[in-house]
Amino acid sequence: MTVPNSVDRDFDNVRAMVWTGDTLRLLDQRRLPAVTAFIDCAEVGAVIDAIRDMVVRGAPAIGVTAAYGVVLAARARYRADPVGWREALEADLRALAAARPTAINLSWALDRMRAVATQATGEPLVALETAARQIHEEDVAANRHMGRLGATLIDSGTGVLTHCNTGSLATGGFGTALGVIRSAYAAGRIDHVFADETRPWLQGARLTAWELVQDGIPVSLLADGAGAWLMRQGKVHWVVVGSDRIAANGDVANKIGTYHLAVAARHHGVRFMVVAPTSTVDMAVESGRGIPIETRAASELLEVGGRRVAAQGAGAWNPVFDVTPAALVDAIVTERGVVTQPDRAKMEALMAD
Ligand code: MRU
Repeated sequence: MTVPNSVDRDFDNVRAMVWTGDTLRLLDQRRLPAVTAFIDCAEVGAVIDAIRDMVVRGAPAIGVTAAYGVVLAARARYRADPVGWREALEADLRALAAARPTAINLSWALDRMRAVATQATGEPLVALETAARQIHEEDVAANRHMGRLGATLIDSGTGVLTHCNTGSLATGGFGTALGVIRSAYAAGRIDHVFADETRPWLQGARLTAWELVQDGIPVSLLADGAGAWLMRQGKVHWVVVGSDRIAANGDVANKIGTYHLAVAARHHGVRFMVVAPTSTVDMAVESGRGIPIETRAASELLEVGGRRVAAQGAGAWNPVFDVTPAALVDAIVTERGVVTQPDRAKMEALMAD
């Protein structure tokens, strides 16, 4: 699943999802980097399973995947009932929305697809397919633009620390935080990338490192608990992360472990950048308190590779996202521009444009 030869090929060598015209082909991210395997989804149930089970993950990638899922759902519903298909489609939209609760890009994409379905007269598939492709292409373009904007904030000779995976795999392509890192590296501003391994799914070790190694960008992994000590050594100047949902006051939900990086960054005078398209901003949620935080199965912590490693009898607490208060964020980089020291007024101005 290589990207066709184009100027955008640099530092963007992989697509997590490809619409074949008939099915949605997903790169199975659970098996990377050891195995490159694909799952072909021919109906919406398979797409819902893929999102819930982490075949595809990362907020923008989930949104793009859901948009293609709506095409598959509408195809089946229209074939079954060319008159009442819209009502039946609502059940699929609800099931897609429930697949993962924190990433707002999911319901953002579903709202866009619902609007197209509502306006369609006659056979809706061409319009829906066009809309899904557009959501995908717009995400890549937004990432390219954010990459350039974010890179200007980074001085030469910088070390950066990132968390989870925010690259081509987590988005339509190129990446959010990893997009900024790619652009800044290409501009000669970044010397070295440090990546948290990101327990328990190891998105940093398996996916971010895989993407950066393919790009020839030097990367060192660290255990999730090592970030503060790394900062203490003076090795990083920016923490650069993505987001699953940004509240109206600038509070930022992201992969569990992001919040303690932000606390440590402030203590050490390291700056903290969040990179996310405006499809990640949820102005309907006042603050981080209103963001639903997904909790996943205890087995994700108690087992490794399906084998129990924790002491028998131990339980687990497994929230998979946390919220970093806006006061700890130095910059939110979006495709509409950069918000420094975010607050409600600045977020409203950004979203009003
Ligand atoms: O559980 P995941 O792998 O879907 O979590 C992904 C993240 O937390 C990313 O940082 C976020 O979605 C932004 S991806 C551009």
